[in-house]
Amino acid sequence: MADPKKLFIKTYGCQMNVYDSERMAEAMGAQGYVETTEMAEADMILLNTCHIREKAAEKVYSELGRLRPLKDEKPDLKIGVAGCVAQAEGEEIIRRQPLVDLVVGPQSYHRLPELTAKAAQGVPALDTDFPEEDKFEHLPKRPKPQRGPTAFLTVQEGCDKFCAFCVVPYTRGAEVSRPAERVNSEAQELVARGVREITLLGQNVNAYHGHNKGLAGLIWALAEIEGLERIRFTTSHPNDMDEALIEAHGTCEKLMPYLHLPVQSGSDRILKAMNRKHTRDQYFRLIDRIRDARPDLLLSGDFIVGFPGETDQDFADTMDLVARVGYGQAYSFKYSARPGTPAAEKDPVPEEVAQARLYELQALLSDQQRAAQESMVGREVAVLFEKAGRNPGQVVGKSQYLHAVHADAPEKVLGTIQPVRIEASASNSLSGQWIER
Ligand code: 5AD
Ligand code: SF4
Repeated sequence: MADPKKLFIKTYGCQMNVYDSERMAEAMGAQGYVETTEMAEADMILLNTCHIREKAAEKVYSELGRLRPLKDEKPDLKIGVAGCVAQAEGEEIIRRQPLVDLVVGPQSYHRLPELTAKAAQGVPALDTDFPEEDKFEHLPKRPKPQRGPTAFLTVQEGCDKFCAFCVVPYTRGAEVSRPAERVNSEAQELVARGVREITLLGQNVNAYHGHNKGLAGLIWALAEIEGLERIRFTTSHPNDMDEALIEAHGTCEKLMPYLHLPVQSGSDRILKAMNRKHTRDQYFRLIDRIRDARPDLLLSGDFIVGFPGETDQDFADTMDLVARVGYGQAYSFKYSARPGTPAAEKDPVPEEVAQARLYELQALLSDQQRAAQESMVGREVAVLFEKAGRNPGQVVGKSQYLHAVHADAPEKVLGTIQPVRIEASASNSLSGQWIER
């Protein structure tokens, strides 16, 4: 029998792309492709791309440029661009980089096998439609091999919020939720394969409406699955944090005390210009309610500095918001003008001003992150061990607060939740003593 064809996927951007890459590998697996981690031996290379900021999009073109020698050496090699750059730029990609054989948008992955067949005949294949059918339903059922204890599961895609800076409503389309029963059966299958923690994904996951009681309803339904021990979700919009979801943070034991709740700016003027549809005070009140429900919850966020029109006072308001809220973890970005978005029409803040603000904000956020990690020292946390560590005898996992934790313990703890007494905090992880019970 001929050797199976080899597929190499490089994933950029968010966790939804990580999930999509897994599903694309499965779709191609059904066509006889096996995944490889060696780009050089691949018969097909897929770049699953991100368009959120300019840098992310440009990375794709530089990577494609680097693939030229490989394609010259191996003319049968097929190169595909998937994800949000594919959606946003479509045919333009093939014009800019004729070595590309296939362009597939995030809603069309179930058509990947057909597109590959077309590309095999030497015709560039393109599909960036938003078809009616659910791509996840047309993908093959996930195969059965055992897998690690954590998994992503996309439950919602797209966004109707239209923040003035963001391409997501254009690249991922309108908000669509997968029905709760389908999510539930996929979750059960994952658990049967060894998964203990599921992170529900969506661009606007707390706007999920595939269950009549929203995301909270879905979480409670999944919490019934025996063997599923932890549930997380990301990423959320403040305006969609309904009462039931806040309450679930206080009462659903399987829902972890960690919440990524981006606010983007602490200035009312900028929030308005960003079309975020809430004020800083509303955000403060929301955080108070969430912390009343779950006092130890660790909060994470996203921030943009240098949005068009942002003054020193606006930025000072952002610094003040961060100081008042206190984040355990956060991401911050310099504003990047994205073609087609309303903010891209406006005059930018000078680059050096935006850069200086980013440094200042990042310094505060990393102080807060350090403080949050150090506050864990001496405490007992619950760690879901995922894999062997770098040093022999060491294992690594995540605490309920999503901190990476290293401990000395036998491999038999992998895939289980264990108590660990935290002893030290390093730059991006904690270490501690496994408490054998
Ligand atoms: N420029 C900078 N950051 C952006 N984000 C989204 N669009 C832009 C942009 N045009 C950030 C937001 C969002 C995160 C995923 O990326 O903070 O929450
Ligand atoms: Fe983009 Fe999030 Fe705003 Fe939707 S809510 S437009 S995904 S930043």
